[in-house]
Amino acid sequence: MDNALLKISNLTAEFKTDKGVFPAISGVHLTINKGEVVCIVGESGSGKTVASLSLMQLIPAVGKITSGEITFEGRDLLKAKKKEMAQIRGKSISMIFQDPMMALDPVYTCGSQIIEAIRIHQSISRQDAHTKALELLKQVGIAHPQRCMNAYPHELSGGMCQRISIAMALSCSPKLLIADEPTTALDVTVQAQILDLLKTIRNEMNMSIMLITHDLGVVAEMADRVAVMYAGKVMEEGDVRTIFRNPQHPYTKGLIKSIPHMDQKNGKLYSISGAVPSISSMPQGCRFAPRCEEAADICRQREPEMQQLSDSCQARCWKFAPEWKEGEAG
Ligand SMILES: Nc1ncnc2c1ncn2[C@@H]1O[C@H](COP(=O)(O)OP(=O)(O)O)[C@@H](O)[C@H]1O
Ligand SMILES: [Mg+2]
Repeated sequence: MDNALLKISNLTAEFKTDKGVFPAISGVHLTINKGEVVCIVGESGSGKTVASLSLMQLIPAVGKITSGEITFEGRDLLKAKKKEMAQIRGKSISMIFQDPMMALDPVYTCGSQIIEAIRIHQSISRQDAHTKALELLKQVGIAHPQRCMNAYPHELSGGMCQRISIAMALSCSPKLLIADEPTTALDVTVQAQILDLLKTIRNEMNMSIMLITHDLGVVAEMADRVAVMYAGKVMEEGDVRTIFRNPQHPYTKGLIKSIPHMDQKNGKLYSISGAVPSISSMPQGCRFAPRCEEAADICRQREPEMQQLSDSCQARCWKFAPEWKEGEAG
């Protein structure tokens, strides 16, 4: 049975820079099933945001999707008309962002913004929208919804504002919620509360969530499945348990090794040396090769294909390709 809600295949998006036109993501494949939380993880600059904005067709004007397919509920979004896409964005797919203050307008009360969001997609009276807004605020764990309705965004904390933007995102009962680093700007305790809220919502509404983060702690807490992105490509993809217990790609291994441990006593923290390349200076061969401890000659020459390693895991690394010979490493 095909349980896929969203299927991205071979997606490439290019950006114009002062040095020329370069792909920011290339050949991205990703499936999100109904009710599933898929985390996209990777260092800053890996292409996570570009991937999510591409699927909403919201990438900045200097960027362009040059190939690929995005199927949502069996429909090719890249062929959808502007008007259809706007409907899908408001009704079936919602987004929340890192900075909740950015999503809210400082000059209107929170209440009027939520009511507005509700009324864009549903023809109901202001009074009914008001009632629904109060319900939504309760649903996202706000103890005094009426007080919150009357407040302006700057009068509330970051965590409260993120709850409100989640309430607005939920107002149309979307099938897919895209959350781009939704807790990065918040204090740790508030982060945990927001993640808990997202979990509750997923369970109650059986929604799919695409959660973008650079934090593997968040991945461990939230994900059913993980896609590890590096330099515009998915490097490893799989079931969350498999990825944490038995990571295959050297990049994934490096990320996991970089997680600080409580028992790290005389500990220097591990970090992967080097940095994510810019889109205008991608290395030849495997994009991770210059930083990879296991790289061999072939890695610096040709780009590896994605290899299916088990039912629940695939990785883009020469080590798993048939061409890889014993003793090639080094
Ligand atoms: N508007 C833009 N113009 C040019 N390059 C961009 C633009 N937006 C993103 N990029 C480049 O695309 C790459 C991926 O960026 P992004 O998706 O924001 O990464 P992430 O969200 O993983 O931190 C980066 O190298 C970034 O510099
Ligand atoms: Mg980003």
